[in-house]
Amino acid sequence: MDGSQTAPLPIAATGDRPASRRVYVKTWGCQMNVYDSTRMVDVLAPLGYAPTAAPDDADLVILNTCHIREKATDKVFSELGRLRAAKEARATRGGDMLIAVAGCVAQAEGAEILERAPYVDLVFGPQTYHDLPDMVTKALRSRGQAILNTEFPVESKFDFLPEEQAPQGPSAFLSVQEGCDKFCTFCVVPYTRGAEASRPVDQIIAEARRLVAGGAREVTLLGQNVNAYHGEGPQGGPWGLGRLIRALAEIPDLARIRYTTSHPRDMDDDLIAAHGEVPQLMPFLHLPVQSGSDSILRSMNRKHSADDYLRIVDRLRTARPDMALSSDFIVGFPGEREADFAATLRLVNRVGYAQAYSFKYSPRPGTPASAQASQVPEAEKTDRLEALQQLLNAQQLAFNRSCRGRVMPVLFDRAGKRPGQVLGRTPFMQVAHAEGPPRLLGQIVDLAVDEGHANSVAGRIVTGTWDTADGQPTAAQGAV
Ligand code: SAH
Ligand code: SF4
Ligand code: F3S
Repeated sequence: MDGSQTAPLPIAATGDRPASRRVYVKTWGCQMNVYDSTRMVDVLAPLGYAPTAAPDDADLVILNTCHIREKATDKVFSELGRLRAAKEARATRGGDMLIAVAGCVAQAEGAEILERAPYVDLVFGPQTYHDLPDMVTKALRSRGQAILNTEFPVESKFDFLPEEQAPQGPSAFLSVQEGCDKFCTFCVVPYTRGAEASRPVDQIIAEARRLVAGGAREVTLLGQNVNAYHGEGPQGGPWGLGRLIRALAEIPDLARIRYTTSHPRDMDDDLIAAHGEVPQLMPFLHLPVQSGSDSILRSMNRKHSADDYLRIVDRLRTARPDMALSSDFIVGFPGEREADFAATLRLVNRVGYAQAYSFKYSPRPGTPASAQASQVPEAEKTDRLEALQQLLNAQQLAFNRSCRGRVMPVLFDRAGKRPGQVLGRTPFMQVAHAEGPPRLLGQIVDLAVDEGHANSVAGRIVTGTWDTADGQPTAAQGAV
């Protein structure tokens, strides 16, 4: 998972409600933040807020932020500087703009944000956005008096959110679990998202059904520790993620199921077995290892060794031989020597990744590793990152090239840059390009892969529309 990506927010339909105000949401960070942003728009709809893509015209601007690395946090403050000017320009035209900071930076640095940027009206953490209508109403009344809400409420926000207003499209996110109790020594997430908690099974299945009714063919189950899922089942008693996936696979027309992000320690037998047994469960898994050195893994408090990880990979591949893998890596963790880094390269060579994210260690305030002596010099971090990325990029290219000559079902979900081009995802999460009409969007169609590139594959759409995840044609529809 790339904690520094920005993602566009789908524009919500507002139904029959008169939309008199506009809200602009900018999102950084993980998929869970993207999901939260769509839900914030849902919560605000009854107040008459419709989404806009133009921040300068917005009555309310929400920055949904990420705290994972220093760079991610810096971006928020530079964006706030730009917004201040927009707010002032709007005021000279007699208008008004509320500025809100949400997400993990808000949770971690709430008071500091208000000190550094006193023109911010609202600061609220990831667990409080179900209260947005109330917060916004208060902010509009108490002009000049900023509102700060970084509670971890006892109630779950999911019990208070309205039904989703806007279809997310062919590939939808669904949060099933939040927070983290693992406390890896480099990571802010346990502090910004709070304790680990799972949503009840019924709530998730109902939301998945609505997403499918709204046109989703693929649902990605989200959680900071998604495979630690232990939500309450319909008859009481906790369900694991494997059981939840099997139940979701019963939903007609839900062709693809994915989940992210997993921790190696929570890959239990049932979940691994599900990969061999549930055809809708896609053969791709993001399973972060962070390092290949046991002493670094210990110092990171990961509670698994490199060997434990490799055994899990072997079991996954036994259950599902074509399983493609992805990971996150941190280089230059405090105390990392050349020998530790070499162990990471060995692990990468042993696994063979289809894709991966890698980062230089970034000391985060309040985390144990940031206080450790033996911080690695920046130049060494740079060299190691370059070497690791070279290897990972070569593996990704090799994987993409190995797909040439194969036919695979692709879920097309976006128009390409060029007219007549459509973009989608293979079962292995590769971006796939093809020439095809826009009516293919939302469909799973067979692609004969001709080219494998650094970050994508390309090919020709072949006869037939494949409507099930196991690649069985439901209708022969002729060449499209
Ligand atoms: N729950 C997810 C983590 C989300 S953060 C998981 O366990 O994988 C996404 C990734 O950011 C992490 O996997 C890690 O590789 C990276 N990351 C987290 N904290 C970091 C830090 N302080 N410096 C550099 N990278 C970090
Ligand atoms: Fe962060 Fe570790 Fe929890 Fe992932 S498992 S969110 S890296 S503390
Ligand atoms: Fe970033 Fe928070 Fe996600 S710190 S990666 S937005 S959980």
